[in-house]
Amino acid sequence: MKPTEDLILAFESSCDDTSVAILDTQYHILSNIISSQVSHNDFGGILPELASRLHLKNILYLTETAIQTTAVDPARIAAIAVSINPGLIGSLIVGLSFAKGLAWSMNIPLITVNHLLAHIFANYIGNPDLKPPYAALVVSGGHTELVCFNRGTEFQVIGKTLDDAAGETFDKAAKLLGLPFPGGPVIDQLAQSGNSSFLALPRALNRKDDHNFSFSGLKTAIKTHLANQDENYIRSHINDLAASIQTAIIEPLVNKTVRWCKNHHIPTILLAGGVAANSLLRQWMPAAAGKHGIRVYCPPVKLCLDNAAMVAAAAVTKYRNGKFSTLDVNAFSTKGTKEI
Ligand code: KG4
Ligand code: ZN
Repeated sequence: MKPTEDLILAFESSCDDTSVAILDTQYHILSNIISSQVSHNDFGGILPELASRLHLKNILYLTETAIQTTAVDPARIAAIAVSINPGLIGSLIVGLSFAKGLAWSMNIPLITVNHLLAHIFANYIGNPDLKPPYAALVVSGGHTELVCFNRGTEFQVIGKTLDDAAGETFDKAAKLLGLPFPGGPVIDQLAQSGNSSFLALPRALNRKDDHNFSFSGLKTAIKTHLANQDENYIRSHINDLAASIQTAIIEPLVNKTVRWCKNHHIPTILLAGGVAANSLLRQWMPAAAGKHGIRVYCPPVKLCLDNAAMVAAAAVTKYRNGKFSTLDVNAFSTKGTKEI
């Protein structure tokens, strides 16, 4: 493909994936390379210092590979984009420092984006004509937020988790079941042949006027239940346990999002973040929303997980509006969806 649009070279390094992408301003992906740091798997979670060092080790090679495999003339790259919050501070600094160096040496603008907004903007890849109003459910390893965009990139946070994030709950439940990290994809797979009514688990904040989420009670209920069982029980009921846990996490996400959109006449829902890769959420949300004429968009699985194409997608509007960052901009780890 020969793009006629300006190109954005983007970096994502907020957690344990180093990713480099080239996207044009019509949201066509030319390259989206993701290097996942499997070294953390031995530790059952992400080691921040190890993550920073691996980003540093990989980022130049991945950038050279993206340029070489697409045979893009670097002179066609019009801007550098990078996510600068939220995330692991050391990891963010590696990506930002590399992006700053490139922007300075190539004499092109630097565009900094919020990682959660980037997850939402992954929906523009393949749907470049999407327009607000829409609600976005951002469900990742560290975040669970329901936000509503009324116009442009202006938005309000409708609800968020008061404790654990949806992805974190998948990961912690998997750990209790003796399953590997990250737990979400494993539970998703095991749940395919399980009975979701096997174990009754709590749904928190179950009032019609409450748009927040809470998963720590669910985690405690799983822990308490398993404390009375032996390994044999877990092994022989693993599919049913996975299905029960998955449904307990997904059901409030679907019910609260659809209810809010129905009550506020919002016609469109965007799913975003790693948990948007979940097969039950991808089936249930469109089915529930469709009953009220609400349309649901969801990026392909690869674009739900951390990747740099979504960072470039979030940078497109800023590029068009000339909203650039200066080279003294800092990364910061603060949680939440923010326009920056
Ligand atoms: O967005 P993401 O790649 O990284 C963060 O920004 O956190 O999300 C990672 C999270 C992990 O908690 C992982 O278990 C979860 O997304 N996840 C899933 C699935 N695939 C990834 N959760 C449920 N079902 C899945 N298929
Ligand atoms: Zn993410």
